[in-house]
Amino acid sequence: MQHLLSAADLDKESAISLLDLAEDMAETADRPHKKLPALRGRTIVNLFFEDSTRTRISFESAEKRLSADVINFSAKGSSVSKGESLKDSAQTLAAMGVDAVVIRHGSSGAPHLLAHRGWIHVPIVNAGDGTHEHPTQALLDAFTLRRRIHKNHSRGKDLAGVRVAIVGDVVHSRVARSNAWLLTTLGAEVTFVAPPTLLPASADSFPVAMVTNLDEILRQRLDAIMMLRIQKERIQGAYFPNEREYTRVWGLTADRFGALNENTFVMHPGPMNRGLEICSQAADSPSSTILEQVANGVFVRMAVLFSVLTGNEEL
Ligand code: CP
Repeated sequence: MQHLLSAADLDKESAISLLDLAEDMAETADRPHKKLPALRGRTIVNLFFEDSTRTRISFESAEKRLSADVINFSAKGSSVSKGESLKDSAQTLAAMGVDAVVIRHGSSGAPHLLAHRGWIHVPIVNAGDGTHEHPTQALLDAFTLRRRIHKNHSRGKDLAGVRVAIVGDVVHSRVARSNAWLLTTLGAEVTFVAPPTLLPASADSFPVAMVTNLDEILRQRLDAIMMLRIQKERIQGAYFPNEREYTRVWGLTADRFGALNENTFVMHPGPMNRGLEICSQAADSPSSTILEQVANGVFVRMAVLFSVLTGNEEL
């Protein structure tokens, strides 16, 4: 794997192989000395043009666990505020001798530009671009689901027949897009659930079902319900009447959570709007995988960085 730009680029075999490598990485977390020498001498830059807590810190943890040298670049406080372009910022960092770039950017397609314009010649990992994709989030979601379902026998397994509802602000969600590609590649059946205004315009643009009635979906067998954040920073205009109405019709409220099958996992990529798309009873329950998703993100990102930088040498 040269770059990781989109979950749509992963076929089933390569996705399972990455998830299995992440299992190997997870095993190292139980050792007294958690660090592996795998990327010693390599320098990775984390290029964050958009705010992040989980993804930025998770990549940094993954890089340090693999003994890489880490440079953190945040657009705030950099020469981007003086008008420096993405190309010039990237080439400036490349001139300092970086071996890989992890990029988060508010514009969809920014990682693809870095990978394909010939500005720099190192592996690029997409840490979330605009409303387009967030492939490592989808990998950590798939890893978490696979572990909850197959437990210690996860290696080599796919998600055939697993039913997942992805609920909320789908139209602005790179997490929903990446999960639509990856989970279905792994055999899962995915349904987007949202107000009509927050669903993608074209019903056949993703290999998923799309519905507007959350309560109807909750009456069916579901292995996981993934609640999405209402992205207030990207919402301009009235996509739904008001927040209270949104919660009443599309939120995972205490009543809906109480009626949910106890075997249905509750997922959320974070950050959460508690009380809007998800209630605290659900977020903090034993059914919730939210903190497991965060923990597993480090293992998945270790696997991705190891793959793009070494081409899957033996660990
Ligand atoms: N899930 C996710 O991407 O969170 P951050 O924006 O905090 O990185």
